[in-house]
Amino acid sequence: MVRNVHFKFLLVLLFVNASLFSQKFSKDFQWGTAIAEFQNSGAATLPDSNWARFQERIGLVSGKSVDHWNKYQEDIELMKEIGINSFRFSIDWSSIEPAQGMINESALQHYDNLCMALLAANITPMATLHHFVHPAWFDDLGGFERVENIQYFVRFAQTVFARFHDKIQLWCTINEPAVYAFAGHLIGIHSPGKIAVKDGFRVCGEVLKNLLIAHIEIYQVLKQMSGGDRAQIGIVHNVLKFQPRYWFEPIEASACAFLTPITNDATMNFLRTGEYLYEPFSTFCCKPLRIVYQDDRAPHSFDFIGLNYYATAVIGFNSDTIFGSAFFPGQIMGDMDLSLDPQGFATAIREVAALGKPIYITENGMADNSKKDDQRRQLLIMTSLEEVEKALQEGIDIRGYYYWTLVDNFEWHKGFDASFGLHDRERNKKPSADLYKNLIAEYSNRAF
Ligand code: BGC
Repeated sequence: MVRNVHFKFLLVLLFVNASLFSQKFSKDFQWGTAIAEFQNSGAATLPDSNWARFQERIGLVSGKSVDHWNKYQEDIELMKEIGINSFRFSIDWSSIEPAQGMINESALQHYDNLCMALLAANITPMATLHHFVHPAWFDDLGGFERVENIQYFVRFAQTVFARFHDKIQLWCTINEPAVYAFAGHLIGIHSPGKIAVKDGFRVCGEVLKNLLIAHIEIYQVLKQMSGGDRAQIGIVHNVLKFQPRYWFEPIEASACAFLTPITNDATMNFLRTGEYLYEPFSTFCCKPLRIVYQDDRAPHSFDFIGLNYYATAVIGFNSDTIFGSAFFPGQIMGDMDLSLDPQGFATAIREVAALGKPIYITENGMADNSKKDDQRRQLLIMTSLEEVEKALQEGIDIRGYYYWTLVDNFEWHKGFDASFGLHDRERNKKPSADLYKNLIAEYSNRAF
């Protein structure tokens, strides 16, 4: 009860604040929401993929998820109702190229229809070319573990770009390369489910490097194609950092010093300087594993940086589980061990701003499973937009904010146990959908 009153008070305070001071959002700010095809359409609808295989191995069933593939028109209606003017989605490679070299025209037509419907609703499409999922045949070839395989992904990108460059101007090449490498190859909670035994640490570093090279290759190739000059092409990075529960706890502190360079710093340094340096054991021993790669094109191979931000992960070895599962006293926690972390978000914005490119907040969200009032999600949206506004006031070039996600969907290794949606799976709206709607209206009214 006390907690409830406290939440409500905070919400009112934040809303009044937003109404009084919002003047910095421009008229063409992208008020968005983001999804990924596999998470919203599921393995029952899409052709065989790395994730279809992996979910089966770990005993999860995505089914048709929320059947976005067939119900996209309903989803557009939900967006219109909120006042959303941009939609980030992924184009499913497995659907476009279910067998190597075989392009499925009806899948291309599907995305064509989706784009037409979005544009008719004045919603700007933002497409992601790789959101953790690729065709099973690509997986059989070794996926991104093999640098030779990058060409297949580039070819897919070319096919899609040739078809959609006149309808889609905002392109994200790869969603969270470091999370893909780390979650799939070090801790094994994502496809392909490898854990860091034997050669695992090296493979993780190679996968991350190959994804970053793939991004550059795609950027270079698409920019040369018809429509390349008008397209804005970026990469999406999750600023994921670890902090020890107790700074004086040597194991916790060492774990953080070990993890953050993998999940964050290697990618950020590469984008900033062109030097890829992966040496996970450098803080521990004298003969560290070292992968070094230099590519001077890197700092010039993105028109914007997509920032995904959820929380700072707190490591506490005295808690039940290990990764990011602990929290600091007083923190408001979501239902996926992710805290409400506006300070971390503010810091992350400034960190990516230092890359000197426009920013889109391509994902930001909170898992709040409470059925009736999703107050933690509302707090997240309000505090995040406040941080965006503060950054705009400082002159940081943020062009859009995409709430993750529109409708509760398949949350990878958590299945349907984590609810990030503004709507439930039956597409009933939650209070946070109204809140987001009011804030968009409020901020837009005062936009310059
Ligand atoms: C991923 C999403 C995921 C979200 C919440 C992000 O890292 O891009 O696919 O659903 O986190 O866990």
